[in-house]
Order: sequence, then C-alpha cells, then structure tokens
Amino acid sequence: MNNLERTLSIIKPDAVERNLSEKIKSIFLKNNLLVKDTKKLHISKDEAAEFYKVHQSKPFYDQLCSYLSSGPIEVMILEGENAVLKNRELMGATDPKNAKDGTIRKLFGVSIDKNSVHGSDSVDNAKNEINFFFNK
Ligand code: CMP
Repeated sequence: MNNLERTLSIIKPDAVERNLSEKIKSIFLKNNLLVKDTKKLHISKDEAAEFYKVHQSKPFYDQLCSYLSSGPIEVMILEGENAVLKNRELMGATDPKNAKDGTIRKLFGVSIDKNSVHGSDSVDNAKNEINFFFNK
C-alpha cells in the first residue's frame, strides 16, 4: 500500500432509520475500504455540537446539531489506500441533488441535511474525528 489512511464515516439518522447501513458498508467494501471498527449510538445535541464545532459560525449549525442527535447513528473507522479522499468520492457532493450518479448521497440522500453520510475531509480531521468517537 502506498498511502494507507484511516477516516471516519458516520451513517446519519435518515439512513440508519431506513436500514441502509449494510448497503452503505457494502459500497465501502467493494471499493477496498475496510470497516476496522463500528458502533451504533445516539448522541446528545451537546455532543453533536462538539463534534461539528468547526461549523459553529455557520447559519445551519444549530439545525445540523439537532439533526445529528435526532436518532441513532452508526460511526465507523474506514481504512484503505487514500481512504479520506476515496470515502469523499464515494459519498458525493454534500447536497444530494448535486451528487454524481452512483454516489451514496445520490443513491440515498434526501436533502442537504438528511444526506445519509458524513466523512472526514482531511487526514488531520480524520484523526480528530476517530479520536472523538473511538478514543484512538
Ligand atoms: P457533513 O459532511 O456531515 O458536514 C456538515 C453538514 O452540514 C453537511 O454534511 C450537511 O449535511 C449539513 N449542511 C446543512 N446545510 C448546509 C449548507 N448550506 N452547506 C453545507 N452543509 C450543510
């Protein structure tokens, strides 16, 4: 492997609620992203606010934190070559209506809030986000 990385993926409440977790994980596996650890949890709004604090100045912050804490989520550590970028390519654009065909958000996303998945946007953020949920 030239550039083995780890990244954090979250299956958001809209996708957990529709039982899409296994379908989404199979997309990761098919694309050589291994699920190294996973857990299902229901976080509080304060925990969501801490997780998304990079967005605290954004107008959608409060709504975003309410949404992530609105129901169960599944968090995963994905590992593979160029995992951060690969995961973001597989997810597609933030707004499902702008996402390319075949991406997770195009296939399953409902709206810019209910966009089914989150993925770390850099190697540094991946480390912080993995540490946030898995303490490692
Ligand atoms: P995510 O990748 O989890 O990171 C931040 C989230 O904010 C993003 O996905 C969207 O679900 C959500 N969001 C809500 N409104 C907006 C917006 N106008 N621009 C970007 N992200 C938004």
